Amino acid sequence: MTRVLTYGTFDLLHWGHIRLLKRAREQGDYLVVALSTEEFNEGKGKKTYHDFATRKAMLEAVRYVDLVIPEEKWDQKVGDVKLLEIDKVVMGGDWEGDPRFEVLRDYCDVVYLDRTEGVSTTKIKQDLGEGA
Ligand code: CTP
Repeated sequence: MTRVLTYGTFDLLHWGHIRLLKRAREQGDYLVVALSTEEFNEGKGKKTYHDFATRKAMLEAVRYVDLVIPEEKWDQKVGDVKLLEIDKVVMGGDWEGDPRFEVLRDYCDVVYLDRTEGVSTTKIKQDLGEGA
């Protein structure tokens, strides 16, 4: 049983998110998503369209996701990996080499997957804001 963990906000769930979740799940047998809370996002100056409960419910409806836990602070990752007995942390390529994930190599594998081109929550907001 290979247990995989990924982190993210997953607001306005889109094709890039689904592809990331599918490929993350294919890296093992059980996928945990640590989903950023509204408080954590506020600390980053980020405001989601959907609240935490809605984003969590949507992720739980995705067949590749086995468990959703809250991401509440930057330094919870080592604890998550240990507590959930994670074998592999998987992130999109925009996080490649980030020390916040690289330090996890002492505890598990860390894998970065290519981002899906041409889509992001930010782009969707901008495009719809422009009436596209
Ligand atoms: N992701 C991806 N391909 C995309 C968009 C996101 O693979 N086109 C991945 C990210 O690399 C991350 C996960 O999906 O591992 C969650 O990303 P998130 O930041 O929630 O989504 P974005 O669309 O990138 O959001 P934003 O525009 O607010 O940064």
